Amino acid sequence: MLKRGDLYYPTKEFKKNACVKSKAVYKQALKNPVKFWEKLAKGLFWFKPWKKGFLRKPPYFQWFVGGKINITANIFDKNQLGWGAIKNKIALIWEPEPIDEEAITLTYGELFKEVNKFANALKKLGVRKGDRVGIYLPMIPEAIISMLACARLGAVHTVVFSAFSSQALKVRLKDTEAKILITADGYWRRGKVINLKENADEGARDTQVEKIIVVKRANNEIPWNSQRDLWWQNLIKDGSEQCEPEIMDSEDLFFILYTSGSTGKPKGTVHTCGGYAVQAYWTGKWIFDLRKDDIFWCTSDPGWITGHTYTIYSPLLNGATTLMFEGAPDFPTADRWAQLIEKYGVTIFYTAPTAIRMFERYGAELIKKYKFKTLRLLGSVGEPIDETAWLWYFKEVGKGRCPLVDTWWQTETGGILITSLPGIGPFKPAFTGLPFPGIKVKILDEKGKVCKMGKTGNLVLLPPFAPGLLRGIYKNPEKYLETYWSQCGKKVYFTSDAAFKDKQGLIRIVGRVDDAIKVAGHRLTTGELEAAINSHDEINESAVIGIPDEIKGESPAVFAVYRGKKTDEEIKQEIVGLIRKQIGPIALPKEIFVVEDLPKTRSGKIMRRILKRLWTGEDLGDLSTLANPETVEKIKEIIRSK
Ligand code: PRX
Repeated sequence: MLKRGDLYYPTKEFKKNACVKSKAVYKQALKNPVKFWEKLAKGLFWFKPWKKGFLRKPPYFQWFVGGKINITANIFDKNQLGWGAIKNKIALIWEPEPIDEEAITLTYGELFKEVNKFANALKKLGVRKGDRVGIYLPMIPEAIISMLACARLGAVHTVVFSAFSSQALKVRLKDTEAKILITADGYWRRGKVINLKENADEGARDTQVEKIIVVKRANNEIPWNSQRDLWWQNLIKDGSEQCEPEIMDSEDLFFILYTSGSTGKPKGTVHTCGGYAVQAYWTGKWIFDLRKDDIFWCTSDPGWITGHTYTIYSPLLNGATTLMFEGAPDFPTADRWAQLIEKYGVTIFYTAPTAIRMFERYGAELIKKYKFKTLRLLGSVGEPIDETAWLWYFKEVGKGRCPLVDTWWQTETGGILITSLPGIGPFKPAFTGLPFPGIKVKILDEKGKVCKMGKTGNLVLLPPFAPGLLRGIYKNPEKYLETYWSQCGKKVYFTSDAAFKDKQGLIRIVGRVDDAIKVAGHRLTTGELEAAINSHDEINESAVIGIPDEIKGESPAVFAVYRGKKTDEEIKQEIVGLIRKQIGPIALPKEIFVVEDLPKTRSGKIMRRILKRLWTGEDLGDLSTLANPETVEKIKEIIRSK
């Protein structure tokens, strides 16, 4: 019987062939983490070796100082497996959403040519090393090609999730001052064509964008500005299939990826070339046991860090085949995802607990006929996985045979930092495991003391941190210092996650300690939702909390102060409209309450904690510090009468 609290270990068969099978690696790495990472870094191709492994001036740090690298050289002609061994191997399988449309496969050789052709097209448009390029593409091969083309040229890609609103795109384009935006006419989602170009046009208005490159994907009618817009297909028509890689310094800016900020303004996390490549390569090899014959399916969109690292860079650096699926995993039938695993012989499946809970909801009956014989490893990411979902995934998908690695990391860390290694284990439901070799973490209480076993505290990273950890927030050094290097001092990286350890030292992530909420694995902040709501002419104040959701883990609930003449229904619709327009459909609230006032302290601080307890029905605690305790009863009544 599978049970919570049990420890699971890899099968003998898995262990026999695993990339890493001895615990000794942890000890060796901890003796001298910098040396350890340097040894790993030597497993990649560098144009010039580094002079110093790690350089630190708290809170700043650098990795592989002076080393010269290009990640695309490591993916293609200088791949560690040898170009001859992978050139004709399939790098990418792309499955479109419509079932009557043909899939596309590209070998490493073919993908290399496409990347070079598009890199040359970008060059012709004036794109050079260090220039920022906005990518607002759905899950289509061109998303990968354009990211790799930027990397080839040393241009900085900023990928914006295609379901983000035009306004969310605009903020990112403005911040990066990108002159080029790459988008598509449209894409398929649940049987409908989404007109992406309209959003892209709106997002690019009043920014520095000079040219918009458009991939023809859905053949839908789109607005066209002949002065500014260019078809991707025309740009690459006669382009050369060769393009020399830009020689990048290890610490050169590689990409910027935005993540939610508290006040409504997203933070552009800055990632650099050398450290990111090393971490992407090795975490893939050791955590997913990645090898050339693997068909790796990471379900994340490239618009998120998981898509960057584990749909694209890590599997390709390891010479594996990556599978990208345009649509939703339960469309047109609930078992589409299971069909795809069988159709392509997926060997490693990496997804989020929200998807797992959704599959579970459809019932085990639905997938009974699938044997998943090719699967050999499962992964989970993005939000805490509860024991029930863990055990279901392990049993029904992994058939009790596949190691299940729950991987903890963040946009900021670039790659996975805490997990069990599949050839070693143990795997324990709802626990992520141990820090990756060479990663040092601590769990600290409010006074900065190390928490005892079982006690929850702040999870922090100790030097030398991680090669792939962010080096800054784009154009906002103050925010960088304040967010990551002040709560627990300048010397440790503050993750904003609470966690505890069990007696084996395995780590369980409890959740965020800041105002971030994880909705279906997507990271949002209550602050950014509130900023969108408060942009309403007649709403000055609102509070958003995360409430439990059976499928999505958490969902936003809105409490908006409104004293005007419109009906509650009208106001609710307007709030939904504002959130949709300013952030996107992923942020839509599960509940909206129109209230007269919010519980506040005498100094005016909104007590979100009380709102949360009102929702969950927990004891409210001491209300004597509230300036307006009478609002609590009123809100309670509003929630009750829902
Ligand atoms: O709270 C943690 C949660 O997701 C946060 C990072 O979100 P994001 O930057 O969007 O990156 C997600 C993909 C790496 C973390 O601070 N989180 C991520 N993985 C896990 C997790 N919580 C629990 N278990 C995980 N495996």
